[in-house]
Amino acid sequence: MKLIIKNNHIPRSVINATAKNVLPYLHRLKKQPETFMKLPANRAVFTEVARVARNYKNIKYIFVIGIGGSSLGTKAIYDAQIGYRDLWQPKRTPKMLFADTTDPEIVSAQTTFVSKQKPNSILFVIVSKSGGTTETLVDAEILLHAHRSKDNIVVITDHGSPLWREAQKKKVMCIGIPQEVGGRYSVFSAIGLLPLAIAGIDIKALRNGASTMHAKCLDADPAKNPALASAAVLFNHYKKGRKINTLFLFHPELETLGKWYRQLVAESLGKNSRGFTPDVSIGSTDLHSMAQLYLDGPRDKITTFIYSTPQPSVPRVPKKTVFGDLSAFLKGKSAIEIMNAILTGTKHAYIKQKLPFMEIELSRLDAAELGAFMQFKMMETIFLATLMGVNAFDQPAVELYKEETRKLLL
Ligand code: PA5
Repeated sequence: MKLIIKNNHIPRSVINATAKNVLPYLHRLKKQPETFMKLPANRAVFTEVARVARNYKNIKYIFVIGIGGSSLGTKAIYDAQIGYRDLWQPKRTPKMLFADTTDPEIVSAQTTFVSKQKPNSILFVIVSKSGGTTETLVDAEILLHAHRSKDNIVVITDHGSPLWREAQKKKVMCIGIPQEVGGRYSVFSAIGLLPLAIAGIDIKALRNGASTMHAKCLDADPAKNPALASAAVLFNHYKKGRKINTLFLFHPELETLGKWYRQLVAESLGKNSRGFTPDVSIGSTDLHSMAQLYLDGPRDKITTFIYSTPQPSVPRVPKKTVFGDLSAFLKGKSAIEIMNAILTGTKHAYIKQKLPFMEIELSRLDAAELGAFMQFKMMETIFLATLMGVNAFDQPAVELYKEETRKLLL
């Protein structure tokens, strides 16, 4: 993963000065890392996950029941590696399914689906850190009731949570997560690793990618530390009133990764009247819906383009075209050339409009690069929180709505 900041509009001297304000925290992290930072290198978690995953080799569906931080990271990686293509690979198993809504029509469709599956063809992974989230409990109760077999259930939750206690009573397998790791920082705990391992994702590569990035993100030099440089750039734009943080992902299969990032930014930084508004777009599709606003609307955004180094063996527009002269300029061109032209054209348009942007180039869309990217973004977020003077790890306002909902349902 490479961060390119040449078009970010903030002088290097200002970036360095801003980064200096993070250094006391960064030095503390070297001695006393936040718990989520230790997850990629945690062998015990990996061993436990690998051991449990072995029990579910022949499973057809992994149904992850969880919401927000309890499912977004898992879904981001699954979609990037497998899920986006599920429609075109109907026979490929295991497939991961997600229950993260109580929308009646969807729950009803999911209920019908699980009721028709053979016993033991589905593994239910119920994920809730608090062990009391309404949506998760509703989905778990309805789906487990609809499925005949009650054997294949794994609960992932805090040790001693209400869900942990109930699951223990019912002799359901429970895996604990570290108390201090909040949902949005939990992707490298059992929450992400277990379902991903069962789905066939290379979790070793995922962890290795994250570990390598972790080391880089502890460098005191912003020229060598992408999270520090990027946080400093973002913070300077924030101070200038550019409070919309657009992640422009030039790969449709990364859309869920964008949603994961949206939660990370929103919940970690959006407090005490401060915060970035995260915005996610997919290239090139969303150029056909958002480009007008981005290029000529309010100048209140800082954009990061995400793309990967093109890989060979991609389709070409045939030499003999159906639409004759209309597509003449595209004849024989590969999808790589076309995507490159669109991405480069977009960057040129941003430069012409004097709009600031950063770029992140992933060498491939594989587990290692995804792990690196996610660790980078988590580190960038905690550095930004330090600069903005907010606590990156709580979400008091989310709890507000949860409490109010519970009161209405009691
Ligand atoms: O990141 C967070 O803290 C939240 O998005 C939670 O993950 C979400 O509210 C679900 O909570 P829980 O995992 O306790 O069920």
